[in-house]
Amino acid sequence: MSGIADDPDRAPARSHLYAMGLSDDDMRRPVIGIASTWTGTMPCNLTHRELAGHVAEGVRRAGGTPMEFNTIAVSDNLTMGTPGMRASLVSREVIADSVELMGRAHQFDGIVAIVGCDKTVPAAIMALARLDIPAVVLYSGSMMPGRWRGRDVTIQDMWESLGERAVGRMDQADVDDLARHACPGAGTCAAQYTANTMGSVADFIGLAPFGAGDIPAVAEEKNAAAERVGEIAMRAVREGVRPSDLLTADALHNAIVAVAAMGGSTNAVLHLLAIAREAGLDLRIDEIGALCRQVSIVAGLKPSGPHTAADLWRAGGTSLVAKRLLEAGLLREDVTLVDGRTYRQVADDAVETEGQQVVTSVAEPVKPAGALAVLRGSLAPDGCVLKLGGRPDFRREGPARVYDSEEDCFAAIQSGEISPGDVVVVRYEGPAGGPGMREMLSITGALVGQGLGDSVALVTDGRFSGVSHGLVIGHVAPEAYRGGPIALVENGDRVAVDTAANTLDLLVDDDVLDARRAAWKRPDRPVERGVLAKYVATVGSASDGAVTV
Ligand code: FES
Repeated sequence: MSGIADDPDRAPARSHLYAMGLSDDDMRRPVIGIASTWTGTMPCNLTHRELAGHVAEGVRRAGGTPMEFNTIAVSDNLTMGTPGMRASLVSREVIADSVELMGRAHQFDGIVAIVGCDKTVPAAIMALARLDIPAVVLYSGSMMPGRWRGRDVTIQDMWESLGERAVGRMDQADVDDLARHACPGAGTCAAQYTANTMGSVADFIGLAPFGAGDIPAVAEEKNAAAERVGEIAMRAVREGVRPSDLLTADALHNAIVAVAAMGGSTNAVLHLLAIAREAGLDLRIDEIGALCRQVSIVAGLKPSGPHTAADLWRAGGTSLVAKRLLEAGLLREDVTLVDGRTYRQVADDAVETEGQQVVTSVAEPVKPAGALAVLRGSLAPDGCVLKLGGRPDFRREGPARVYDSEEDCFAAIQSGEISPGDVVVVRYEGPAGGPGMREMLSITGALVGQGLGDSVALVTDGRFSGVSHGLVIGHVAPEAYRGGPIALVENGDRVAVDTAANTLDLLVDDDVLDARRAAWKRPDRPVERGVLAKYVATVGSASDGAVTV
Protein backbone atom coordinates (compact mmCIF):
# COMPACT_ATOMS: atom_id res chain seq x y z
CA MET A 1 0.00 0.00 0.00
CA SER A 2 1.99 2.90 -1.28
CA GLY A 3 2.83 5.48 1.32
CA ILE A 4 0.68 4.35 4.18
CA ALA A 5 2.00 0.93 5.24
CA ASP A 6 5.13 -0.13 3.35
CA ASP A 7 7.83 1.49 5.48
CA PRO A 8 9.22 -0.40 8.51
CA ASP A 9 8.05 2.48 10.71
CA ARG A 10 4.53 2.01 9.41
CA ALA A 11 4.09 -1.16 11.50
CA PRO A 12 1.42 0.53 13.66
CA ALA A 13 -0.59 1.25 10.52
CA ARG A 14 -0.08 -2.34 9.33
CA SER A 15 -1.42 -3.62 12.62
CA HIS A 16 -4.77 -2.03 11.83
CA LEU A 17 -4.72 -3.46 8.34
CA TYR A 18 -4.06 -6.94 9.78
CA ALA A 19 -6.99 -6.26 12.11
CA MET A 20 -9.20 -5.87 9.06
CA GLY A 21 -8.05 -9.21 7.68
CA LEU A 22 -5.50 -7.95 5.15
CA SER A 23 -2.41 -10.07 4.52
CA ASP A 24 1.12 -8.92 3.71
CA ASP A 25 0.37 -9.79 0.09
CA ASP A 26 -2.74 -7.63 0.17
CA MET A 27 -0.66 -4.71 1.42
CA ARG A 28 1.88 -5.11 -1.35
CA ARG A 29 -0.81 -4.81 -4.01
CA PRO A 30 -2.20 -1.51 -5.33
CA VAL A 31 -4.99 -0.35 -3.05
CA ILE A 32 -8.13 0.89 -4.75
CA GLY A 33 -10.49 3.04 -2.72
CA ILE A 34 -14.12 2.41 -3.60
CA ALA A 35 -16.20 5.47 -2.83
CA SER A 36 -19.84 4.54 -2.47
CA THR A 37 -22.55 7.15 -2.21
CA TRP A 38 -24.92 4.61 -0.67
CA THR A 39 -27.62 5.91 1.57
CA GLY A 40 -30.74 4.16 2.74
CA THR A 41 -32.76 7.34 2.33
CA MET A 42 -33.55 7.10 -1.37
CA PRO A 43 -34.00 4.52 -4.13
CA CYS A 44 -31.42 6.28 -6.31
CA ASN A 45 -28.32 4.91 -4.57
CA LEU A 46 -29.81 1.88 -2.89
CA THR A 47 -27.73 -0.63 -4.85
CA HIS A 48 -24.36 0.95 -4.16
CA ARG A 49 -23.24 -1.34 -1.34
CA GLU A 50 -23.90 -4.39 -3.48
CA LEU A 51 -22.16 -2.76 -6.44
CA ALA A 52 -19.17 -1.86 -4.25
CA GLY A 53 -18.79 -5.55 -3.48
CA HIS A 54 -18.72 -6.39 -7.18
CA VAL A 55 -16.24 -3.61 -7.93
CA ALA A 56 -14.09 -5.00 -5.12
CA GLU A 57 -14.27 -8.45 -6.70
CA GLY A 58 -13.04 -7.00 -9.98
CA VAL A 59 -10.19 -5.21 -8.22
CA ARG A 60 -9.12 -8.40 -6.47
CA ARG A 61 -9.33 -10.41 -9.69
CA ALA A 62 -7.05 -7.87 -11.37
CA GLY A 63 -4.46 -8.06 -8.58
CA GLY A 64 -5.46 -5.17 -6.34
CA THR A 65 -6.73 -4.68 -2.83
CA PRO A 66 -10.07 -2.91 -2.50
CA MET A 67 -11.05 -0.63 0.39
CA GLU A 68 -14.62 0.57 0.50
CA PHE A 69 -15.79 3.78 2.06
CA ASN A 70 -18.98 5.75 2.11
CA THR A 71 -20.05 9.33 1.73
CA ILE A 72 -23.39 11.11 1.85
CA ALA A 73 -26.10 11.78 -0.71
CA VAL A 74 -29.17 14.01 -0.64
CA SER A 75 -32.32 12.97 -2.49
CA ASP A 76 -33.59 15.75 -4.69
CA ASN A 77 -36.99 14.15 -5.05
CA LEU A 78 -37.59 13.66 -1.36
CA THR A 79 -36.48 17.19 -0.51
CA MET A 80 -38.14 18.93 -3.48
CA GLY A 81 -40.45 21.76 -2.47
CA THR A 82 -39.22 21.69 1.14
CA PRO A 83 -36.52 23.56 3.09
CA GLY A 84 -34.50 20.33 2.82
CA MET A 85 -33.84 21.07 -0.86
CA ARG A 86 -31.44 23.79 0.32
CA ALA A 87 -29.08 20.94 1.25
CA SER A 88 -29.01 19.46 -2.24
CA LEU A 89 -26.47 21.58 -4.09
CA VAL A 90 -24.51 22.04 -0.87
CA SER A 91 -24.17 18.25 -0.76
CA ARG A 92 -22.23 18.37 -4.04
CA GLU A 93 -19.48 20.23 -2.22
CA VAL A 94 -19.63 17.98 0.85
CA ILE A 95 -19.45 14.81 -1.24
CA ALA A 96 -16.56 16.17 -3.30
CA ASP A 97 -14.74 17.25 -0.17
CA SER A 98 -15.32 13.94 1.59
CA VAL A 99 -14.11 11.80 -1.32
CA GLU A 100 -11.11 14.09 -1.70
CA LEU A 101 -10.33 13.86 2.02
CA MET A 102 -10.52 10.06 2.02
CA GLY A 103 -8.22 9.93 -0.99
CA ARG A 104 -5.72 12.30 0.56
CA ALA A 105 -5.85 10.64 3.97
CA HIS A 106 -5.51 7.03 2.88
CA GLN A 107 -3.27 7.60 -0.14
CA PHE A 108 -5.05 5.12 -2.36
CA ASP A 109 -3.27 4.04 -5.53
CA GLY A 110 -6.51 4.36 -7.45
CA ILE A 111 -10.14 5.05 -6.82
CA VAL A 112 -13.56 3.97 -8.09
CA ALA A 113 -16.50 6.29 -7.42
CA ILE A 114 -19.95 4.71 -7.48
CA VAL A 115 -22.50 7.43 -8.14
CA GLY A 116 -26.19 7.77 -8.81
CA CYS A 117 -28.42 10.56 -7.52
CA ASP A 118 -27.92 13.97 -9.07
CA LYS A 119 -25.17 15.67 -7.07
CA THR A 120 -23.12 12.55 -6.51
CA VAL A 121 -21.96 12.42 -10.14
CA PRO A 122 -20.45 15.91 -10.49
CA ALA A 123 -19.21 15.73 -6.91
CA ALA A 124 -17.25 12.56 -7.59
CA ILE A 125 -15.77 13.92 -10.82
CA MET A 126 -14.76 17.11 -8.98
CA ALA A 127 -13.06 15.08 -6.26
CA LEU A 128 -11.26 12.85 -8.76
CA ALA A 129 -10.01 15.93 -10.61
CA ARG A 130 -8.60 17.28 -7.35
CA LEU A 131 -6.97 14.00 -6.33
CA ASP A 132 -5.69 13.22 -9.82
CA ILE A 133 -4.99 9.58 -9.07
CA PRO A 134 -6.06 6.79 -11.48
CA ALA A 135 -9.83 6.70 -11.24
CA VAL A 136 -13.02 5.30 -12.73
CA VAL A 137 -16.64 6.34 -12.28
CA LEU A 138 -19.42 3.76 -12.12
CA TYR A 139 -22.89 5.19 -12.63
CA SER A 140 -25.22 2.89 -10.72
CA GLY A 141 -28.07 3.15 -13.20
CA SER A 142 -31.58 4.29 -13.77
CA MET A 143 -34.78 3.08 -12.23
CA MET A 144 -37.15 1.21 -14.52
CA PRO A 145 -40.28 3.18 -15.43
CA GLY A 146 -43.49 2.39 -13.59
CA ARG A 147 -46.69 1.23 -15.32
CA TRP A 148 -49.94 3.00 -14.59
CA ARG A 149 -53.18 2.69 -16.47
CA GLY A 150 -51.49 1.19 -19.50
CA ARG A 151 -48.57 3.56 -19.89
CA ASP A 152 -45.00 3.98 -18.69
CA VAL A 153 -44.71 6.59 -15.96
CA THR A 154 -41.84 8.25 -14.13
CA ILE A 155 -41.39 10.73 -11.33
CA GLN A 156 -42.19 13.44 -13.90
CA ASP A 157 -45.80 12.19 -14.05
CA MET A 158 -45.88 12.27 -10.28
CA TRP A 159 -44.97 15.95 -10.02
CA GLU A 160 -47.25 16.98 -12.85
CA SER A 161 -50.14 15.12 -11.22
CA LEU A 162 -50.25 17.85 -8.56
CA GLY A 163 -51.04 20.45 -11.21
CA GLU A 164 -53.60 18.13 -12.79
CA ARG A 165 -55.26 17.72 -9.42
CA ALA A 166 -55.38 21.51 -9.01
CA VAL A 167 -57.43 21.89 -12.19
CA GLY A 168 -59.62 18.85 -11.51
CA ARG A 169 -58.20 16.47 -14.10
CA MET A 170 -57.08 14.10 -11.34
CA ASP A 171 -58.35 13.60 -7.81
CA GLN A 172 -56.35 12.73 -4.71
CA ALA A 173 -57.14 9.03 -5.11
CA ASP A 174 -55.61 9.12 -8.61
CA VAL A 175 -52.51 10.92 -7.33
CA ASP A 176 -52.09 8.42 -4.50
CA ASP A 177 -52.55 5.48 -6.85
CA LEU A 178 -49.99 6.91 -9.27
CA ALA A 179 -47.56 7.35 -6.36
CA ARG A 180 -47.78 3.62 -5.67
CA HIS A 181 -46.89 2.75 -9.26
CA ALA A 182 -44.56 5.49 -10.55
CA CYS A 183 -41.32 4.19 -9.06
CA PRO A 184 -41.07 0.40 -9.11
CA GLY A 185 -37.66 -0.10 -7.48
CA ALA A 186 -34.07 0.97 -7.01
CA GLY A 187 -32.35 3.35 -9.38
CA THR A 188 -32.16 6.97 -10.37
CA CYS A 189 -35.10 8.93 -11.77
CA ALA A 190 -36.05 7.11 -14.92
CA ALA A 191 -35.38 9.44 -17.87
CA GLN A 192 -32.98 12.17 -18.97
CA TYR A 193 -33.30 14.12 -15.78
CA THR A 194 -30.24 15.40 -13.92
CA ALA A 195 -28.84 12.09 -12.67
CA ASN A 196 -28.96 10.36 -16.05
CA THR A 197 -27.73 13.54 -17.75
CA MET A 198 -24.69 13.54 -15.51
CA GLY A 199 -24.27 9.78 -15.93
CA SER A 200 -23.98 10.46 -19.67
CA VAL A 201 -21.49 13.25 -18.93
CA ALA A 202 -19.35 10.74 -17.02
CA ASP A 203 -19.26 8.55 -20.15
CA PHE A 204 -18.55 11.30 -22.66
CA ILE A 205 -15.98 13.04 -20.48
CA GLY A 206 -14.05 9.77 -20.42
CA LEU A 207 -14.17 8.81 -16.73
CA ALA A 208 -16.85 6.10 -16.98
CA PRO A 209 -16.68 3.21 -19.45
CA PHE A 210 -19.38 3.48 -22.12
CA GLY A 211 -21.96 0.75 -21.67
CA ALA A 212 -21.73 0.32 -17.89
CA GLY A 213 -23.82 3.28 -16.77
CA ASP A 214 -26.69 2.62 -19.21
CA ILE A 215 -27.54 -0.65 -17.53
CA PRO A 216 -30.53 -0.07 -15.23
CA ALA A 217 -29.87 -0.38 -11.51
CA VAL A 218 -31.87 -3.59 -11.12
CA ALA A 219 -30.68 -5.35 -14.29
CA GLU A 220 -28.62 -8.43 -13.57
CA GLU A 221 -25.95 -7.27 -16.08
CA LYS A 222 -25.04 -4.47 -13.68
CA ASN A 223 -23.00 -6.62 -11.34
CA ALA A 224 -20.73 -7.88 -14.12
CA ALA A 225 -20.28 -4.28 -15.28
CA ALA A 226 -19.24 -3.31 -11.75
CA GLU A 227 -16.64 -6.09 -11.70
CA ARG A 228 -15.29 -4.87 -15.02
CA VAL A 229 -15.02 -1.35 -13.59
CA GLY A 230 -12.82 -2.76 -10.81
CA GLU A 231 -10.56 -4.29 -13.45
CA ILE A 232 -10.48 -1.03 -15.42
CA ALA A 233 -9.37 0.80 -12.28
CA MET A 234 -6.46 -1.61 -11.93
CA ARG A 235 -5.59 -1.09 -15.58
CA ALA A 236 -5.59 2.68 -15.01
CA VAL A 237 -3.23 2.24 -12.06
CA ARG A 238 -0.87 0.01 -14.00
CA GLU A 239 -0.80 2.35 -16.99
CA GLY A 240 -0.72 5.51 -14.90
CA VAL A 241 -3.82 7.01 -16.50
CA ARG A 242 -4.98 9.92 -14.36
CA PRO A 243 -8.04 12.16 -14.48
CA SER A 244 -5.84 14.98 -15.78
CA ASP A 245 -5.15 12.79 -18.83
CA LEU A 246 -8.89 12.50 -19.43
CA LEU A 247 -10.38 15.82 -18.33
CA THR A 248 -9.27 18.00 -21.22
CA ALA A 249 -10.96 20.82 -23.10
CA ASP A 250 -11.85 18.33 -25.83
CA ALA A 251 -13.42 15.95 -23.31
CA LEU A 252 -15.53 18.80 -21.92
CA HIS A 253 -16.57 19.68 -25.46
CA ASN A 254 -17.77 16.10 -25.96
CA ALA A 255 -19.67 16.14 -22.68
CA ILE A 256 -21.45 19.39 -23.57
CA VAL A 257 -22.39 18.00 -26.99
CA ALA A 258 -23.81 14.90 -25.31
CA VAL A 259 -25.88 16.95 -22.85
CA ALA A 260 -27.36 18.90 -25.75
CA ALA A 261 -27.90 15.89 -28.01
CA MET A 262 -29.70 13.94 -25.30
CA GLY A 263 -31.95 16.82 -24.19
CA GLY A 264 -30.21 17.02 -20.82
CA SER A 265 -30.85 18.92 -17.64
CA THR A 266 -30.02 22.59 -17.08
CA ASN A 267 -28.11 21.48 -13.98
CA ALA A 268 -25.44 20.14 -16.33
CA VAL A 269 -24.39 23.73 -17.04
CA LEU A 270 -23.72 24.33 -13.36
CA HIS A 271 -21.90 21.05 -12.92
CA LEU A 272 -19.79 21.28 -16.08
CA LEU A 273 -18.59 24.72 -15.00
CA ALA A 274 -17.67 23.31 -11.58
CA ILE A 275 -15.91 20.27 -13.09
CA ALA A 276 -13.94 22.48 -15.47
CA ARG A 277 -12.83 24.64 -12.60
CA GLU A 278 -11.61 21.63 -10.59
CA ALA A 279 -9.78 20.33 -13.65
CA GLY A 280 -8.08 23.69 -14.19
CA LEU A 281 -9.85 24.26 -17.50
CA ASP A 282 -11.18 27.59 -18.66
CA LEU A 283 -14.85 27.10 -19.53
CA ARG A 284 -17.32 29.98 -19.73
CA ILE A 285 -21.07 29.70 -19.47
CA ASP A 286 -21.50 31.34 -22.88
CA GLU A 287 -19.33 28.66 -24.49
CA ILE A 288 -21.69 26.00 -23.17
CA GLY A 289 -24.67 27.94 -24.49
CA ALA A 290 -23.11 28.49 -27.92
CA LEU A 291 -22.19 24.82 -28.31
CA CYS A 292 -25.60 23.62 -27.14
CA ARG A 293 -27.24 25.79 -29.79
CA GLN A 294 -25.27 23.95 -32.50
CA VAL A 295 -26.42 20.47 -31.52
CA SER A 296 -29.85 19.01 -32.28
CA ILE A 297 -31.55 16.54 -29.98
CA VAL A 298 -31.00 13.01 -31.29
CA ALA A 299 -32.26 10.98 -28.32
CA GLY A 300 -36.00 11.25 -27.69
CA LEU A 301 -35.87 10.99 -23.93
CA LYS A 302 -38.26 12.47 -21.40
CA PRO A 303 -38.73 15.31 -20.63
CA SER A 304 -37.93 16.38 -24.23
CA GLY A 305 -39.29 13.19 -25.80
CA PRO A 306 -41.39 10.14 -25.01
CA HIS A 307 -38.77 7.58 -23.96
CA THR A 308 -37.24 6.50 -20.66
CA ALA A 309 -33.66 5.64 -19.73
CA ALA A 310 -34.49 1.93 -19.90
CA ASP A 311 -35.66 2.47 -23.50
CA LEU A 312 -32.29 4.05 -24.30
CA TRP A 313 -30.47 1.09 -22.79
CA ARG A 314 -32.52 -1.36 -24.87
CA ALA A 315 -31.97 0.74 -28.00
CA GLY A 316 -28.17 0.74 -27.75
CA GLY A 317 -27.33 3.17 -24.97
CA THR A 318 -24.94 6.08 -24.87
CA SER A 319 -22.57 4.14 -27.15
CA LEU A 320 -25.18 4.44 -29.90
CA VAL A 321 -25.54 8.17 -29.21
CA ALA A 322 -21.74 8.49 -29.41
CA LYS A 323 -21.79 6.66 -32.74
CA ARG A 324 -24.37 9.07 -34.16
CA LEU A 325 -22.49 12.13 -32.91
CA LEU A 326 -19.22 10.76 -34.23
CA GLU A 327 -20.77 10.13 -37.65
CA ALA A 328 -21.85 13.78 -37.70
CA GLY A 329 -18.37 15.00 -36.78
CA LEU A 330 -19.60 16.54 -33.54
CA LEU A 331 -17.21 14.74 -31.18
CA ARG A 332 -13.53 15.39 -30.75
CA GLU A 333 -11.70 12.11 -31.06
CA ASP A 334 -8.33 13.14 -29.68
CA VAL A 335 -9.27 12.22 -26.14
CA THR A 336 -8.48 9.38 -23.78
CA LEU A 337 -11.27 7.18 -22.45
CA VAL A 338 -10.71 5.44 -19.14
CA ASP A 339 -11.11 1.90 -20.49
CA GLY A 340 -8.50 2.49 -23.19
CA ARG A 341 -10.93 2.46 -26.10
CA THR A 342 -11.17 5.27 -28.62
CA TYR A 343 -14.45 6.86 -29.62
CA ARG A 344 -14.14 4.92 -32.91
CA GLN A 345 -14.01 1.69 -30.97
CA VAL A 346 -16.96 2.73 -28.82
CA ALA A 347 -18.91 3.45 -32.00
CA ASP A 348 -17.84 0.14 -33.55
CA ASP A 349 -18.85 -1.70 -30.39
CA ALA A 350 -22.29 -0.03 -30.27
CA VAL A 351 -25.11 -2.49 -30.83
CA GLU A 352 -28.22 -0.86 -32.26
CA THR A 353 -31.41 -2.78 -31.59
CA GLU A 354 -33.28 -3.32 -34.80
CA GLY A 355 -36.28 -1.07 -35.11
CA GLN A 356 -35.38 1.10 -32.12
CA GLN A 357 -36.93 4.56 -32.17
CA VAL A 358 -35.10 6.23 -29.31
CA VAL A 359 -31.91 7.41 -30.99
CA THR A 360 -32.15 9.04 -34.42
CA SER A 361 -29.36 10.91 -36.20
CA VAL A 362 -28.09 14.45 -36.58
CA ALA A 363 -29.45 14.42 -40.15
CA GLU A 364 -32.90 13.44 -38.87
CA PRO A 365 -33.01 14.67 -35.29
CA VAL A 366 -35.77 14.19 -32.78
CA LYS A 367 -35.85 17.98 -32.52
CA PRO A 368 -33.88 20.27 -34.79
CA ALA A 369 -33.07 22.89 -32.15
CA GLY A 370 -30.88 22.48 -29.10
CA ALA A 371 -31.69 21.50 -25.55
CA LEU A 372 -30.32 24.51 -23.70
CA ALA A 373 -29.48 28.15 -24.29
CA VAL A 374 -27.54 30.69 -22.28
CA LEU A 375 -29.09 34.15 -22.27
CA ARG A 376 -27.81 37.49 -21.04
CA GLY A 377 -29.47 40.87 -20.82
CA SER A 378 -30.55 43.55 -18.40
CA LEU A 379 -32.27 41.01 -16.16
CA ALA A 380 -29.30 38.62 -16.19
CA PRO A 381 -26.09 40.55 -16.87
CA ASP A 382 -23.94 37.56 -15.83
CA GLY A 383 -26.06 35.02 -17.67
CA CYS A 384 -28.86 32.53 -17.13
CA VAL A 385 -29.91 29.18 -18.58
CA LEU A 386 -33.03 28.50 -20.64
CA LYS A 387 -34.32 24.98 -21.11
CA LEU A 388 -34.95 25.32 -24.82
CA GLY A 389 -36.04 21.69 -25.11
CA GLY A 390 -35.66 21.66 -28.88
CA ARG A 391 -38.12 24.53 -29.46
CA PRO A 392 -37.56 26.76 -32.46
CA ASP A 393 -36.49 30.31 -31.59
CA PHE A 394 -39.18 32.46 -30.02
CA ARG A 395 -39.74 35.89 -28.49
CA ARG A 396 -41.99 36.23 -25.47
CA GLU A 397 -42.90 39.35 -23.54
CA GLY A 398 -45.23 39.55 -20.58
CA PRO A 399 -45.99 41.10 -17.22
CA ALA A 400 -43.96 39.96 -14.22
CA ARG A 401 -45.60 38.17 -11.29
CA VAL A 402 -42.99 38.33 -8.55
CA TYR A 403 -42.52 35.96 -5.59
CA ASP A 404 -39.76 35.95 -3.00
CA SER A 405 -39.80 32.19 -2.42
CA GLU A 406 -40.74 28.94 -4.09
CA GLU A 407 -43.48 28.32 -1.52
CA ASP A 408 -45.20 31.67 -2.18
CA CYS A 409 -45.16 31.02 -5.90
CA PHE A 410 -46.47 27.46 -5.61
CA ALA A 411 -49.38 28.64 -3.47
CA ALA A 412 -50.19 31.35 -6.03
CA ILE A 413 -50.22 28.86 -8.90
CA GLN A 414 -52.39 26.39 -7.02
CA SER A 415 -54.89 29.15 -6.18
CA GLY A 416 -55.21 30.13 -9.85
CA GLU A 417 -53.36 33.45 -9.57
CA ILE A 418 -51.27 32.91 -12.70
CA SER A 419 -52.63 33.59 -16.19
CA PRO A 420 -51.37 32.66 -19.67
CA GLY A 421 -48.80 35.22 -20.83
CA ASP A 422 -47.46 35.97 -17.34
CA VAL A 423 -43.75 35.87 -16.57
CA VAL A 424 -43.42 34.34 -13.12
CA VAL A 425 -40.31 35.58 -11.27
CA VAL A 426 -39.10 33.58 -8.25
CA ARG A 427 -36.13 35.16 -6.46
CA TYR A 428 -34.00 34.97 -3.33
CA GLU A 429 -33.56 31.30 -4.26
CA GLY A 430 -29.98 31.64 -5.58
CA PRO A 431 -26.81 29.93 -4.33
CA ALA A 432 -26.33 32.38 -1.42
CA GLY A 433 -29.86 33.74 -1.08
CA GLY A 434 -31.77 30.46 -0.81
CA PRO A 435 -29.31 29.34 0.20
CA GLY A 436 -28.55 26.34 -1.94
CA MET A 437 -30.31 27.28 -5.18
CA ARG A 438 -33.38 25.12 -4.78
CA GLU A 439 -34.94 23.34 -7.76
CA MET A 440 -38.35 24.69 -8.74
CA LEU A 441 -39.96 21.40 -9.71
CA SER A 442 -43.05 21.90 -7.59
CA ILE A 443 -43.68 25.11 -9.55
CA THR A 444 -42.93 23.77 -13.02
CA GLY A 445 -44.88 20.60 -12.31
CA ALA A 446 -47.88 22.65 -11.19
CA LEU A 447 -47.68 24.92 -14.25
CA VAL A 448 -47.41 22.02 -16.68
CA GLY A 449 -50.12 20.10 -14.87
CA GLN A 450 -52.45 23.09 -15.21
CA GLY A 451 -51.70 23.37 -18.92
CA LEU A 452 -49.66 26.58 -18.48
CA GLY A 453 -46.27 25.07 -19.34
CA ASP A 454 -46.00 26.76 -22.73
CA SER A 455 -47.94 29.95 -22.02
CA VAL A 456 -46.24 31.05 -18.78
CA ALA A 457 -42.50 31.75 -18.56
CA LEU A 458 -40.71 31.13 -15.28
CA VAL A 459 -37.59 33.15 -14.43
CA THR A 460 -35.59 32.42 -11.27
CA ASP A 461 -32.19 32.72 -9.63
CA GLY A 462 -32.82 29.19 -8.40
CA ARG A 463 -32.50 26.18 -10.65
CA PHE A 464 -34.58 23.38 -12.09
CA SER A 465 -34.88 19.68 -11.72
CA GLY A 466 -34.07 17.75 -14.86
CA VAL A 467 -37.72 16.73 -14.71
CA SER A 468 -38.81 20.34 -15.25
CA HIS A 469 -39.96 21.45 -18.66
CA GLY A 470 -41.90 24.33 -20.10
CA LEU A 471 -40.62 27.89 -20.60
CA VAL A 472 -38.14 27.84 -17.75
CA ILE A 473 -35.16 30.14 -17.24
CA GLY A 474 -32.95 29.60 -14.21
CA HIS A 475 -29.53 30.39 -12.75
CA VAL A 476 -30.20 34.13 -13.25
CA ALA A 477 -27.00 35.91 -12.23
CA PRO A 478 -26.23 37.96 -10.29
CA GLU A 479 -28.78 36.54 -7.88
CA ALA A 480 -31.27 38.70 -5.96
CA TYR A 481 -29.53 38.26 -2.59
CA ARG A 482 -26.38 39.76 -4.07
CA GLY A 483 -28.28 42.70 -5.54
CA GLY A 484 -28.77 41.45 -9.09
CA PRO A 485 -31.41 43.19 -11.22
CA ILE A 486 -33.83 40.33 -10.51
CA ALA A 487 -34.16 41.87 -7.00
CA LEU A 488 -35.55 45.04 -8.58
CA VAL A 489 -38.44 43.53 -10.56
CA GLU A 490 -41.93 44.59 -9.52
CA ASN A 491 -45.32 43.11 -10.36
CA GLY A 492 -46.46 44.23 -13.78
CA ASP A 493 -42.98 45.09 -15.14
CA ARG A 494 -42.55 43.85 -18.70
CA VAL A 495 -40.01 41.05 -19.12
CA ALA A 496 -38.84 39.90 -22.57
CA VAL A 497 -37.17 36.67 -23.64
CA ASP A 498 -35.67 36.47 -27.12
CA THR A 499 -33.93 33.22 -27.96
CA ALA A 500 -32.71 34.33 -31.39
CA ALA A 501 -30.87 37.20 -29.71
CA ASN A 502 -30.06 35.11 -26.60
CA THR A 503 -31.45 37.84 -24.34
CA LEU A 504 -33.50 38.18 -21.16
CA ASP A 505 -34.43 41.80 -20.50
CA LEU A 506 -36.32 43.77 -17.89
CA LEU A 507 -38.10 46.48 -19.87
CA VAL A 508 -37.96 49.19 -17.22
CA ASP A 509 -36.30 52.59 -17.66
CA ASP A 510 -32.84 52.98 -16.16
CA ASP A 511 -33.81 55.91 -13.93
CA VAL A 512 -36.64 53.86 -12.42
CA LEU A 513 -34.24 50.96 -11.81
CA ASP A 514 -31.66 53.32 -10.29
CA ALA A 515 -34.26 54.57 -7.81
CA ARG A 516 -35.29 51.01 -6.93
CA ARG A 517 -31.64 50.01 -6.53
CA ALA A 518 -31.03 52.92 -4.16
CA ALA A 519 -33.99 51.82 -2.04
CA TRP A 520 -33.14 48.09 -2.08
CA LYS A 521 -31.94 46.46 1.12
CA ARG A 522 -30.38 43.03 1.27
CA PRO A 523 -32.65 40.73 3.29
CA ASP A 524 -31.36 39.39 6.59
CA ARG A 525 -28.84 36.59 6.27
CA PRO A 526 -30.89 33.51 5.43
CA VAL A 527 -28.98 31.34 7.91
CA GLU A 528 -26.58 32.17 10.72
CA ARG A 529 -25.00 28.85 11.68
CA GLY A 530 -23.83 25.50 10.44
CA VAL A 531 -23.05 24.18 7.01
CA LEU A 532 -25.53 26.42 5.20
CA ALA A 533 -23.97 29.52 6.76
CA LYS A 534 -20.52 28.33 5.64
CA TYR A 535 -21.95 27.81 2.19
CA VAL A 536 -23.47 31.31 2.03
CA ALA A 537 -20.11 32.77 3.02
CA THR A 538 -18.13 30.93 0.37
CA VAL A 539 -20.36 30.12 -2.62
CA GLY A 540 -19.82 31.94 -5.89
CA SER A 541 -22.12 32.83 -8.75
CA ALA A 542 -24.20 30.27 -10.64
CA SER A 543 -22.59 31.60 -13.80
CA ASP A 544 -19.29 30.19 -12.48
CA GLY A 545 -20.76 26.86 -11.34
CA ALA A 546 -21.70 27.87 -7.77
CA VAL A 547 -18.44 26.53 -6.39
CA THR A 548 -17.24 27.29 -2.89
CA VAL A 549 -13.58 28.16 -3.29
FE1 FES B 1 -32.21 10.79 -6.96
FE2 FES B 1 -33.87 11.64 -8.93
S1 FES B 1 -33.99 12.04 -6.80
S2 FES B 1 -32.01 10.54 -9.10
